[in-house]
Amino acid sequence: MTHSIAVIPGDGIGTEVMPEGLRCVRRAAELFGIGLSFEEFDFASAAYWSKHGQMLPDNWFDTLKDFDALYFGAVGWPETVPDHVSLWGSLLQFRRGFDQYVSLRPVRLLPGVPAPLAGRVPGDIDFVVVRENTEGEYSDIGGRIFEGTDREAVVQQTVMTRTGVDRIVRYAYELAERRGKHLTSATKSNGISYSMPYWDERVAALGAAHPDVRVDKFHIDILSAHFVLHPDWFDVVVASNLFGDILSDLGPACTGTIGVAPSGNINPGGAHPSLFEPVHGSAPDIAGQGIANPVGQIWAGAMMLDHLGHADAAAAIVDAFERVLARGEVRTPDLGGTATCTELGREIAAAITAE
Ligand code: NAI
Ligand code: MG
Repeated sequence: MTHSIAVIPGDGIGTEVMPEGLRCVRRAAELFGIGLSFEEFDFASAAYWSKHGQMLPDNWFDTLKDFDALYFGAVGWPETVPDHVSLWGSLLQFRRGFDQYVSLRPVRLLPGVPAPLAGRVPGDIDFVVVRENTEGEYSDIGGRIFEGTDREAVVQQTVMTRTGVDRIVRYAYELAERRGKHLTSATKSNGISYSMPYWDERVAALGAAHPDVRVDKFHIDILSAHFVLHPDWFDVVVASNLFGDILSDLGPACTGTIGVAPSGNINPGGAHPSLFEPVHGSAPDIAGQGIANPVGQIWAGAMMLDHLGHADAAAAIVDAFERVLARGEVRTPDLGGTATCTELGREIAAAITAE
């Protein structure tokens, strides 16, 4: 069986880290006997926009829908295309069109990466943020009346559907079953009096099917503080769209450089392809210098293999970059070294073993 993968490098350092991600994914596939086929696309980039006046071809959905996964770099080149155009015109189309309702961000303190939290060592921080990615606070329902007068008023609605809440919470429980059997729910039911109590209610109700998963909940304010003060308390953290957006940046920030953080945009049922990408953007400030850290892209590749059912190959990639980072001989400038993106990518690919 061969998995087909659409490769979309995008802009800036996306095009520099993607070859290193592919190098590692290919190496792991070779060692573990996994059949992969790749097809590269030039859309979702400023260059494509300059040529065609849009970020994606009209038939992007049909072009991509039959792939088993999308491997994405980064999009954005504000000198050429405004950021809201590049993002809404590409990545957000994929997330919505392919109903990628889970945003998954591992948060792990890696060896060899300077820890921003004092006294924390690798092993202390190892959890996953599961963010609802399609509804909640980011709805398009609202409006403005009496504009420009003293009575000016704005309303923006949060929408939580049982379908939407249940599927993300269920995903988080199932992930907790496979990990440390501990789920933390982000809430604010003391201040937000309808939607957040409903969220809490669904978390409690769905817990009945997972009696061996320990569940706790924190209001988002104190939860943010605990991320910084007690990051060792967490295993799987589930959150609504807005809270998850914040936590999924705060979490990785607690573990160091943005260059190493990966992210999955997942359609768990597999009706549509899921998308795997580094958390970082196109980094115009360092693009073209060949010094970007490729670990975020490589780790995203590991998540992709895991999603495709190859947990062993995924673990081998993670193990390889952890060992290379721990040795610390080959480091990109964001980690305090002088190595290039390619040098670090090659080092990691060579460290992957099937043991
Ligand atoms: P950014 O993540 O591109 O860069 C932020 C800072 O982190 C920069 O100083 C950059 O040099 C550094 N950095 C990022 N990735 C790095 C890596 N792999 N190695 C070493 N240093 C790294 O975020 P920024 O500057 O806010 O956005 C730049 C462009 O990227 C914009 O057009 C923005 O819209 C887009 N963007 C796209 C994302 C995506 O495709 N998912 C996510 C975030 C931003
Ligand atoms: Mg964000």
